[in-house]
Amino acid sequence: MIFRQLFEPVSCTYSYLIASRRGGEALILDPVLEKVDRYLQLMRELDLRLVKAVDTHLHADHITGLGALRDRTHCITVMGEQSSVDVVSMRVADGDTLRIEGVSMDVIYTPGHTDDSYSFLMKDRVFTGDTLMIRGTGRTDFQNGDPRAQYESLFDRLLRLPDETLVFPGHDYKGDTVSTIGEERAFNPRLQVKSVDEYAAVMNGLNLPNPKMMDVAVPANMRQGLHQESVARRGWAYSAAAALEQVGRSGVVLIDLREQSERARHGSIPGSLHIPYPELQEAVGSGRLPRDLSVSADMHLLFYCAFGERSAMAVQAVQAAGLTTACHIEGGIDAWKKIGGALA
Ligand SMILES: [Fe+2]
Repeated sequence: MIFRQLFEPVSCTYSYLIASRRGGEALILDPVLEKVDRYLQLMRELDLRLVKAVDTHLHADHITGLGALRDRTHCITVMGEQSSVDVVSMRVADGDTLRIEGVSMDVIYTPGHTDDSYSFLMKDRVFTGDTLMIRGTGRTDFQNGDPRAQYESLFDRLLRLPDETLVFPGHDYKGDTVSTIGEERAFNPRLQVKSVDEYAAVMNGLNLPNPKMMDVAVPANMRQGLHQESVARRGWAYSAAAALEQVGRSGVVLIDLREQSERARHGSIPGSLHIPYPELQEAVGSGRLPRDLSVSADMHLLFYCAFGERSAMAVQAVQAAGLTTACHIEGGIDAWKKIGGALA
């Protein structure tokens, strides 16, 4: 198991790099833009391949590294389904499992600091973002924060985890690095309240100044989407409506790049093949094509995913590898559903 807690000193942010083995897939939680070079260097040194970059919530105090990491590694970007960001590759919801090779995390919706705050539980440890911090909790006074929702997230979700569960927060301003659920229940001053009303009164009385970066960070973090127009300009994109006319035509092969859990939850376009994006990315990266694709190289390939990000990256990769019939569905299954496309 590779586990690295990385620190960004300006916003006192912790980012976490996780992988099951050297040479394998990696995931990064809450990366900071200014540290992207450092993360990439570390991943090269440890021979890791970044497949997912995840933000616990829309940050107000730093610019996320999600967009830059996606552009430089073609990884999948992940946030919760409530996030008001323009587009991420994959959205998760409470009860989902976030997976990479050899690692899985339970996805726990813990709103309150923001309405898109999530925590991630991985065996003996939980990544709590800005919901639960060491001897503190995340402020609830902007970005649709809500002290009552946070009280529930804390008392009904996180504090129900076993006492020995390690707590890795999204920030620490005093130099602490890790705590436990039991320790926080006993010693976190914000958790020594008797009711949701008392907690709300404490949080509403904090009167904190806005984060210095807020006016820059929030708008920047809302626009981290991949620019799918450049793919469209090369003639490699179908709108959902245009794709609808292609489905069922001979020679047209639809390829779903999402994960099985996304297919189960949202449905898929009838008759599509399934090649998860990381599989395609790894195959193309090592100079080959997945078997399903090489047999149909003369076919018209139409990739799709959740919102069009993974499929836009896939089209660019396979076009570069010589599959010149490849296109994708702009806006993914999300756009497909909006025009009433059939689902299997
Ligand atoms: Fe935050």
